[in-house]
Amino acid sequence: MAFSLKSVLISDEIDQKCVDILQSNGVQVTKNTKLSKEELVQEIAKYDGLVVRSATKVTADVINAAKNLKIIGRAGTGVDNIDCDAATKKGIIVMNTPGGNTLSAAELTCALICGLSRNIHNGDRAMKTETWSERKKLMGNELYGKTLAIVGLGRIGKEVAIRMQSFGMKTIGFDPIIPGEVSAEFGVEWMELDRLWPLADYITVHTPLIPQTKNLISDKVFSTCKKGIRVVNVARGGIIDEEALLRALESGQCAGAGLDVFTSEPPKDFTLAKHPKVLATPHLGASTVEAQERVAVEIAEQFVDLMKGTQLFGA
Ligand code: NAD
Ligand code: MLT
Repeated sequence: MAFSLKSVLISDEIDQKCVDILQSNGVQVTKNTKLSKEELVQEIAKYDGLVVRSATKVTADVINAAKNLKIIGRAGTGVDNIDCDAATKKGIIVMNTPGGNTLSAAELTCALICGLSRNIHNGDRAMKTETWSERKKLMGNELYGKTLAIVGLGRIGKEVAIRMQSFGMKTIGFDPIIPGEVSAEFGVEWMELDRLWPLADYITVHTPLIPQTKNLISDKVFSTCKKGIRVVNVARGGIIDEEALLRALESGQCAGAGLDVFTSEPPKDFTLAKHPKVLATPHLGASTVEAQERVAVEIAEQFVDLMKGTQLFGA
């Protein structure tokens, strides 16, 4: 079935290749990344396609104001900024580009694990404040021989495992749909969460934020971990309970946290991000030239495939 798509609005910063591919296939493209929520509600009536990254919140108000909208494309993985139920009720297709930023998110996770183990954030801060004497306080740990627990063994979790094994880390993990025989193929020993927590030196989470994963790393979990556990979240804010994490950092139960994502973005309260034991980045997991080019091309090609009736990717 071919699909007519005349006009597309791009409302977030997305690589120019997305515009080029759509235009060369006869689609009229408007890029406007400055729209307020109210302006988007007004504007959306003019378009039959919308492309977003994560800044635009495609709420039920936006969707209900759309008169001709047939398709929403998310140039990225998570579709939590799109009200998919409201879209489905109106028969609007929602597409994403899972996989386009996998390697970038995995590499940032590995960078945070390495940074935490050697206090790179605090070392850098010491140099910038000309306090060489800080080096005495910045004794690190080798990753070699340590255990990395990976919660969520999908695309990113798997790539993190493969990379951290090259540092000599033992990788263990849990995922409700990836069986142990499959995770063993990429070197991860599958186990239930209760067994995993006390074995871990580092925990990294790579799941969607869903009711089952909200506050998954809680006070209770911290208390069953080794003293000095380090945790990393490049998935979604809220998988690690932020208040529990602060308590664990203060008590010394948690020796460090690498955080790319926060329950509120930007955070309403920067206490965690400013904490000396925290290595924080402002949601940079997918922010590489390569990933942004890939997701821009993928989402545009998926729109074109749909117009030509060749393939359909749903989120
Ligand atoms: P994926 O779908 O390939 O993998 C997610 C895995 O989590 C799946 O295998 C699923 O079975 C598993 N899972 C679901 N519920 C679980 C639970 N209760 N316990 C353990 N595992 C569970 O997704 P992905 O591409 O690997 O992305 C993972 C996360 O990273 C998503 O939240 C995504 O939005 C996020 N992400 C963040 C950035 C960033 O910029 N920081 C970039 C890309 C992706
Ligand atoms: C995603 O889910 O793809 C990430 O949050 C990255 C992003 O697009 O910002």
